[in-house]
Amino acid sequence: MNITVIGTGFVGVVTAAVFASLGHQVVGLDIDESRVTQLQLGKLPFFEPELDSLVQQTATIGNLSFTTAYEEAIPSADFIFVCVGTPSSDTGAVDLRFVESALRSLAPHLSDDTIVIIKSTVPPGSFTRFEKLLKSQTSHAVALASIPEFLREGSAVQDTLHPSRIVIGADSVHVFEQLKALHVAFGAPILQVTPASAQMGKYAANAYLATRITFINQIADLCEKNGADIAEVIETIGYDERIGKHYWYPGLGYGGSCFPKDVKELAYFSRQVGHGDNWFNDMQQFNEQRISAALDRVVTKVGSVKNKQIAVLGLAFKPQTDDTRESPALKVMEWLLKSQATVTTYDPRAVLPSQFAHHQAINQVDTIRKACQGADGIMIVTEWPEIVNFDFTRVRDKTKMQWLFDTRNRLHPPSIQEAGYQYIGIGRVGKKV
Ligand code: UDX
Repeated sequence: MNITVIGTGFVGVVTAAVFASLGHQVVGLDIDESRVTQLQLGKLPFFEPELDSLVQQTATIGNLSFTTAYEEAIPSADFIFVCVGTPSSDTGAVDLRFVESALRSLAPHLSDDTIVIIKSTVPPGSFTRFEKLLKSQTSHAVALASIPEFLREGSAVQDTLHPSRIVIGADSVHVFEQLKALHVAFGAPILQVTPASAQMGKYAANAYLATRITFINQIADLCEKNGADIAEVIETIGYDERIGKHYWYPGLGYGGSCFPKDVKELAYFSRQVGHGDNWFNDMQQFNEQRISAALDRVVTKVGSVKNKQIAVLGLAFKPQTDDTRESPALKVMEWLLKSQATVTTYDPRAVLPSQFAHHQAINQVDTIRKACQGADGIMIVTEWPEIVNFDFTRVRDKTKMQWLFDTRNRLHPPSIQEAGYQYIGIGRVGKKV
């Protein structure tokens, strides 16, 4: 099949490379010329495990190419996946400008029988608008469908190759059958739902996962007040099969490009339909305030951080990615700078975003050891294996009363305390360590 993927961001490149690896002829299309030039040279604009080699292999065998030209990539396409960004505005309303601009650009080159699939996260109800827009720009029959993606950064290639389900939002049986045939190779359950249900399902999945994280974070905070230990609480509840032991790691709150945005948009949508007082508002607020609340608690334990040097280990919003969008590390650094601390930071992949890059009080270094040298406090923010497995006894400065804030609860507190650090975790103060 001929497939065109519009948007060469994270979802777009993964989708393109995976379909190309299954033997399809895929073109990745983007209006960003420098990005396309880099992709043509086999260079990815971001880090994602396994993607580099998949792009190179599929390009080498001639299954994957990149272009900026709609007139080249659209006319022969059987399927067009729209994978452009849908950022949130300040109010929480989703900004559909990039989807609409892609539809406007592709419409004049459409042929009959092409199916346009929206993979970008868009609010239920957007299809009426998209259909109207496409029909106003082309005389060809327009077939529109929605296939939300559920991949996670850091394991995106495997998630796409082995999805838990393929959700096809299509009103027509004919469109559904063609999309089903395209996806059968993935060997996953294939669901036919309406486009609105597919889109609502995507929001609901992310909002539920964000709810789990928020819930366990709230329970962890209560543990700090009542002497319980969050790890033991998770063990206690996890044996109930309705609850389970998975996806229960307390921390500084959820980050990344999906959860904060999707929760914000659901909160906005709920307000728009008259549910002013809704759970998504509260969850968003709790997640936003979480970091300053946690750092205030640290100050209560260790004293002011003014003029102190703090090592922030990890910049990415999670391990195995260089993505710093909505990363807790950035909010931690903002808070530390406001409190007049100096920061040394390390991440195996991510670099300081531009707002911090030239800040005099922040220094990004290339080893954990350098980041911790002379630090008064150490914060483990992203649970990269090399960070959580690092031997912190090697950087203990005996001339100082150092503290170590393990925001992902990954270290062995007794060993850290034996090394002479004051250990701080999340929801585990009651534990005799
Ligand atoms: C998420 C969804 O998992 C994916 O299905 C969807 O398509 C896109 O959004 P992603 O944002 O890549 O994927 O990351 P995920 O691993 O789900 O983590 C999101 C955030 O939650 C991270 O900041 C992570 O650190 C945090 N998290 C996750 C926790 O704080 N505790 C947990 O138990 C799990």
